[in-house]
Amino acid sequence: MKFVTAIIKPFKLDEVREALSAIGVQGLTVTEVKGFGRQKGHTELYRGAEYIVDFLPKVKLEIAIADALLDQTLEAIEKAAHTGKIGDGKIFVFDLESVLRIRTSETGEAAI
Ligand SMILES: Nc1ncnc2c1ncn2[C@@H]1O[C@H](COP(=O)(O)OP(=O)(O)OP(=O)(O)O)[C@@H](O)[C@H]1O
Ligand SMILES: [Mg+2]
Repeated sequence: MKFVTAIIKPFKLDEVREALSAIGVQGLTVTEVKGFGRQKGHTELYRGAEYIVDFLPKVKLEIAIADALLDQTLEAIEKAAHTGKIGDGKIFVFDLESVLRIRTSETGEAAI
């Protein structure tokens, strides 16, 4: 199993969620976050105005998936979150050791 963390532009959230639903992703967690990349936030535009602060608003997605869904998941996020401008975000992939569905005590891929 894999755990995918994606940092994207906030206005891309709906598009990314739809793309993930379409390939069968069963659940995800969304958090509003702030961050910066290699431009350190300075030169990036947000809603038409240059942000003066170092941290820019982003959305973080956390998604647990079966190994078989990894390639499609990465492709779906990349496609849906892409604008081609700086600050489009990043995708981090981790090995996921275990999952447990609390209600049923199912574990592993059955719990995803
Ligand atoms: N190395 C990193 N570690 C953790 N989070 C990061 C890292 N790089 C980027 N992020 C997160 O992703 C967000 C978007 O990063 P961003 O897309 O600007 O990366 P970048 O490397 O500057 O690429 P680009 O040149 O396309 O802007 C940042 O605001 C931050 O939240
Ligand atoms: Mg950047």
